[in-house]
Amino acid sequence: MGFDEEIGIGELTFKKFISREAIHDRMEQMAERINRDLAGSEVDILVLLDGAEAFANAILPKFNFSNRVHYRQVKTYQGTESTGRLELDTSWIGPFFDREVLILEDIIDTGHTLYRVCEMLRLIGNIRYRIATLLLKPKQLQYPVEPDYTGFEIGPDFVIGFGMDYNEQGRDLPDIYRLKS
Ligand code: IMP
Ligand code: MG
Repeated sequence: MGFDEEIGIGELTFKKFISREAIHDRMEQMAERINRDLAGSEVDILVLLDGAEAFANAILPKFNFSNRVHYRQVKTYQGTESTGRLELDTSWIGPFFDREVLILEDIIDTGHTLYRVCEMLRLIGNIRYRIATLLLKPKQLQYPVEPDYTGFEIGPDFVIGFGMDYNEQGRDLPDIYRLKS
């Protein structure tokens, strides 16, 4: 087993799960499909930070339709209520009115974050949006969110790397690692 197959962060051990090669092959396929679907469109791309930055950096150069990229911070807060709470930068809505939007997200877990973001886009009105996510945990879904493009469907285990973090650690790992049970 290679030295980089396992990584320890605090008390947790993560094991290599999806290699950078597999990620980039999949990016190629996703971009091809998205390019086909959005050919000729003018698209506003909404990148949900912090997690989706690596995904965006990898896939954006492969797009060949006309686009403008907007980076927006989204943070979910775990309240006592099961729906939680989503904090959005108030200035982030403006550019999307009457537009075709492609949302880039790193990972859909419960679906809460994207559900709130999409709810907001629907409220602004007249927005056609599509969702592209690098990872989807179908068993974890608690909100009716249906990504149009999914890189990999994975189990419920926590993952890090390729932009995804554990307490701000592990984002810069070029491969994706899964928490060892
Ligand atoms: P959701 O709102 O429950 O779908 O969770 C979405 C957000 O939680 C993602 O955008 C991630 O930032 C974070 N998240 C969910 N699962 C993981 C994981 O396994 N690793 C790292 N971050 C995660
Ligand atoms: Mg995210």
